[in-house]
Formats: sequence, structure tokens, C-alpha cells
Amino acid sequence: MPLPRTLLDRAEPTDADLSVVQGAWPADLTGEIVISAPHPETFGGLHAFFGDGITYRLSLQPGSHGADAERFAWRWGWIDSPSARLRKKRPDVFESTMLGVNSPFGLSNSANTAPLPWGDRLFMTWDVGRPVEIDPVTLGFLGEVGHRSEWKEFLPHPVLPFITSTAHPVIDPDRDCLWTVNTHWGQLHVVRWDGDGRLQSWPIEGATIPQSLHTITVTRDWIVVADCAFKVEPQMLNGGERTEPNNPSEPLYLIRKADLDRTPVGDAVSCKTFTVAPEVMHYYGVYDDSDGVRVVFEHTENSELGLAQRAGDVDALGRPCDPAFVGLYGFPMSPSRMSMIEFDPETGRQTEQASLYEPGRYFAQQLSALDWSTEGVTAPTVRHMLYHGWRPEAVTQRHLALYGDRVDRTLLPTEETPAVLASLSMPDLRPLSDYTWPLDDLPSSPIFVPRDPGAGASRYAGSKPGGHDGYVVVPVMSDAGFRVEVFDADDVGRGPRVTLAAPNHRVAFILHSAWMPRAVSAPDLERTRFATELDGLEALPDDLAAAAREVARELDDGVAMHAGVAQ
Ligand SMILES: [Fe+2]
Repeated sequence: MPLPRTLLDRAEPTDADLSVVQGAWPADLTGEIVISAPHPETFGGLHAFFGDGITYRLSLQPGSHGADAERFAWRWGWIDSPSARLRKKRPDVFESTMLGVNSPFGLSNSANTAPLPWGDRLFMTWDVGRPVEIDPVTLGFLGEVGHRSEWKEFLPHPVLPFITSTAHPVIDPDRDCLWTVNTHWGQLHVVRWDGDGRLQSWPIEGATIPQSLHTITVTRDWIVVADCAFKVEPQMLNGGERTEPNNPSEPLYLIRKADLDRTPVGDAVSCKTFTVAPEVMHYYGVYDDSDGVRVVFEHTENSELGLAQRAGDVDALGRPCDPAFVGLYGFPMSPSRMSMIEFDPETGRQTEQASLYEPGRYFAQQLSALDWSTEGVTAPTVRHMLYHGWRPEAVTQRHLALYGDRVDRTLLPTEETPAVLASLSMPDLRPLSDYTWPLDDLPSSPIFVPRDPGAGASRYAGSKPGGHDGYVVVPVMSDAGFRVEVFDADDVGRGPRVTLAAPNHRVAFILHSAWMPRAVSAPDLERTRFATELDGLEALPDDLAAAAREVARELDDGVAMHAGVAQ
């Protein structure tokens, strides 16, 4: 039984003070790790992606945030947003669906997918909602980005808007702004936010999104937006069956930032259109585009994130699925593929400059660790990719049937394979070093931490930026207990140089992670107030309208949703 049975454990998360259980802590490993996750008690059993957002924070300085002198503070906190507060007050009217959590108030903004640091500020994201700002110290909710009236709502809802955006907005190093998107019935709009004040938004001429948007990325002069492999079929909202696999190829749009700069907000902006294949969810631009617009694609060939396990499923080897995995998304059904593609907006030509496809070695790429400093994204040297391996327990016969002949069964390993961390050189994607875990460990969400942050020109950069000089921190889920392993970024193959753990401490399913140089209280700024977003209350029964007003009052008065928010 190799996948951890506790992966989707519904227990309430707990704080812990982690100790070094192997190796010695490097003095130059500092800062704060932040991790997004769905609260395990609230995902509802349908899909693990759809629990209310929580944040984990691991402090890399022993003795900070209330931990003993030799220990490391692992803290967690609810994102006590209007969505979470309303659900807490009226759980009876919220319903988990295969596409999120719905209610008479509207669609919950789960904000459970990815942390997005911006200097000392911290935002938490979700594909179907606005980015949410939280306080890096208390981990409590501060405000959603932009008033709801500045976003285009997919369908009108009384209180909680249904906004299709992306879980991976980006911070522009030169403009010091946040770029994100807002799709409206498939029409792409690019959105710019400068950290306060109003959003600026432009429709992109001829840019439609057939499936969904999970990621956007930027180079110095361009915004890159590709359709993503998470197909939304309307009947699923009402419990209907999935009928089609994800599209095998996707449109990609290049939008010139200078065109946005000179176009009045709301007017259409043109784009250049390309096609990428196989399908993608995560992709990362090389910021320096002086030699061309280059993007690394972590393809998700035959990965079915939208279809989760349910009772009675049969796994890829014909065995009954373990009920412990009800709600688990489908792991990849084909070997991993990564490519570096250069796009020429003038000629419309695209060229694959490098690729990585080693079917026997790398299966099921999950998430990657990058140097996100300005210097690191401008000239990346190494990226670190985590592979989950071939996990037949996490692929059901329903997944295989949906994809049919698209899955080449001859490429599936004959036996389950373990997770691997691989360091790949940039820009040629050549494997430099890799490390393999025991089969019953499930590492997740690796994070790059520079060795000497602040030594570069920007605060997030070390003296040798790019991704090779520093550490790769990897949370590892295991039925034997949770641990955090730290690798040298220039030699992950040597194995973890130091490991943190605490007795009987477990952590359930997590999503994206990030590193910040420090955790300090958020600046005192004017933010969107929920109290100003209650125009639709008359559409609600009196008791629900009263609950919404109460939440608005609590937020204005700074009343915490839960006692014991992390410090
Ligand atoms: Fe993601």
C-alpha cells in the first residue's frame, strides 16, 4: 500500500515545533516557507481540491514564532475570508460539487491553491475567485483583490461572486504590478493591479479560452496565456458524469505589455496566437526575452485533475480503490514531458529548443521549485522538478476509459514507481542530479531557498541567483509521520542534508508552496471591504442576508473566525 493512507485524512491540522532528526541545520537557510492547502475537514469528499483555503508556514529560523530555541515553528491558519466565514456560519447551505463549493450566497472563493508573495505582502489564490491577501504573521484574511464590481462575473450571484481567474497570477518585476486574468464566457481579459486602487482590465481580441486558465506567465515585454487542461463540463455542477477528456492541444496567446500600457482600460488589445501540445497546466517564461520569447512547459499529458476518485472505483491495476482516497484527483497516465519553446511573435513561428522525455525515469511531474527572484527568473540556471512516479492507486478505470486510446499502455511501468526530485539545467532541461524516495513516501510542493538572500540586487535573490545555489526544501507526506527534507540545490542526488519532523505530526494533502525572506505584519492599506459588496442581499432569504451582514460586521470589527490563529 505505497501511497500514504493518511494523505486525505480529515483531521483538523495542528501546529507543531519541528526538530532536526537528521543532519545539521545550515545557518544560511533562512526565511519562511508558505504552503497552500484545502482544509481537510471541508473538502466534502468529492474532490480534494475544493476545501476552504488554509495556510501552513514553516519558519526556517529555529526559535522563532513561539518555537523553542532549537525547534522550527510549523504553524497553520484558516483564511477567514467572507466565503469561509459564511460557510462556517451556515454549513447547511453550502454544497460541494465537482467544480467547487456552491451556496445561495454564491461560489466560495476557496483561495487554497498557491501562495503568491509580493515583497512582504502575501496573496493566496484560486482559479475561480479573486486573489486573497492574508497577513504573513497571523495568516488571517485581509481583503480580496479588487471590488467585485471591477471583475466580470461568470454568472450573477447575490454575495459571493463567480469569477474565473487564475491560481497563478504573476508579479511583474519591472512594473511592480500584479498581472492576472478574468475570463468571461471564454473571452480572455488581462487584468493589472498595482497593489492598491482599482483594477485595470483589457479584453484581448480573438483570445478565447476553450477549457480554463490555471497559469499565466510573463517575459520582460510579453504576457503569455495558454488554455489549461482542466475541462469544465456544465453538467458536472449538478453531479453529472464527465463525458470528454481534456483537449490534447491548447491555444496560447502572447500579449505585448506595451500595447496594454498605451490602450485605454476596457478597450480591446490584440494578441499573437500559437498552439501548444501536449496539454499543459504549469508553464514559466524566461523573463529575459531579448533573444526571443521562451517558455518552459511542464506538460500534463493524459493527466485528469478534474475527475476524482469515488466509492466503488477500481484502480489502474484492476484492484478496488482504497476508500481512503475518495476525492483524490487522477494522477498522470503517461510519462512526463517538459519542453522549452521559443515563440516569435513577428513570424508566428515556434521552435522547440529543448525537451525532456525519459519514460522510464520521470513519470508524473507534480510541481517545481524555481528561484523566483528577479535575477532568477531573468536568467534561470537550474529548475528542480518533483515527480510522483507511476501510481496505479491514483488512476482509476474511469480515468483510463475517459482517455481511451490516448493512453499508450505500453509506456506504463509494469510496477509502481517512487517519487523523484530532479535538478534540470536551464535552458537545455538536461538532468543534472536526482534523488529517489522510498515507495511509501509522497513528497510534494518543493521550494527553492537562496543561500544568502538579500546579497543580490533584489531582496529575494542570493549572490548567485538562478536556482543552483541554495536549498530545495521538500515536505514529505508519509503514514509514518510528516517530515521536511532539505537538499543542496547543486546536488540533490546526495539526499537530504537535514530533516525536520515532530512525533506524531501529520500533514494532509497540500498544494503549491513559496518562500519569503521574512514574515512581517502586512502594511496598513485600504482594502476591499466585504461590507461594500452586499448589493445582492435582497435576493436572499432574511436569515441568509442577516448572516452576510454579520460577516461584514465581523470583518470590519476585526473579529477572528477561529480562536488560536497562528502567530
Ligand atoms: Fe498550479
